[in-house]
Amino acid sequence: EKGGYEHFMLKEIYEQPDAVTDTYRGRMLVEQSLIRMAGVDDNLERFLNADRIIIVACGTSWHAGLVAEYIFEDIARIPVEVEYASEFRYRNPIIGSKDVVIAISQSGETADTMAAIKLAKEKGAFVFGVCNVVGSSISRETHAGAYTHAGPEIGVASTKAFTTQITVLSLIALKLAKAKGAISNSDFQYHLEELDLIPEKIKQALASNEHIKKVAHKYMNAANFLYLGRGFNFPVALEGALKLKEISYIHAEGYPAAEMKHGPIALIDEKMPVVVIATKKGHYEKVVSNIQEIKSRKGKIIAVVTEGDQDVRSMADYVIEVPDTVEALTPLLTTIPLQLLSYHIAVMLGKNVDQPRNLAKSVTVE
Ligand code: F6R
Repeated sequence: EKGGYEHFMLKEIYEQPDAVTDTYRGRMLVEQSLIRMAGVDDNLERFLNADRIIIVACGTSWHAGLVAEYIFEDIARIPVEVEYASEFRYRNPIIGSKDVVIAISQSGETADTMAAIKLAKEKGAFVFGVCNVVGSSISRETHAGAYTHAGPEIGVASTKAFTTQITVLSLIALKLAKAKGAISNSDFQYHLEELDLIPEKIKQALASNEHIKKVAHKYMNAANFLYLGRGFNFPVALEGALKLKEISYIHAEGYPAAEMKHGPIALIDEKMPVVVIATKKGHYEKVVSNIQEIKSRKGKIIAVVTEGDQDVRSMADYVIEVPDTVEALTPLLTTIPLQLLSYHIAVMLGKNVDQPRNLAKSVTVE
């Protein structure tokens, strides 16, 4: 059942090239320069007339929502708010019939997300679900939706659900951008071609596994980790930290890189490993200067970089390369080494990777 892998989590990490392909198969027609998604096509006017999109979710799915916020705003120019479902449902949110709510949930059973959906529906919003489990409660409660088609996710720590959620949300953003005229035809086509290359590039990212194991071995005894990223990769930093916390029980925090100087930099000393996502895209130079700040305080730097990067390599203690892609899609690649890093650290510490203490696969109580 684990297909020769030691744990479900590792199997599911390795399934990501296929899972992402399954997510866009039949929806993204590269040759025709077209994205077809029934749930969106049938409700296109609702999406296009929306004043804003509100995304509600919990945990890793919330992180996928944050990535989507960057993608929707950048590509489709639609304002997006991302909310923890648990906060949204209890704070008397201002929401009406012109709002589109996107609820993201792997299991489709999360109690807080379900309650947020019910509230949004009561207030007249159109609610769209992005679920993995077919026929789940949330997929039934929403007005329309798109499944991620990641296949069953057994490991409690979410991996392939995250990357396929980002894939679905990218497809929706691109589709709306095209319908609104917010993206040129050539840029739209370029994004489709780049998305089509992602599964192969995830495979290349997975090929760093042995190297990542060495990094894991080096830092497995650290008491704390910091994860930093900017822009599209800020939520990836949050997700990397969550993965490490969940399965290795090492305290980790994710931050937007520039926020470091507003507090967390006080934590940095020679015992603090800092995982920095520093792909050669927007804000690259700024991240490089953040790395210098860490370095001058003797922090240990593990940098996720674009293939061939030399500048960061000269400063970092370890670099992990991912292939280049268009900026909006970098989270699909930068996430991979962070999943593997937390996996190997947890295994080396002898933790129960697939069933971490105190956690359940679907959280059906608030
Ligand atoms: C993290 C994790 C949880 C879930 C969260 C939401 O690895 O598994 O944080 O992401 O409980 O679950 P779903 O997506 O099923 O609503």
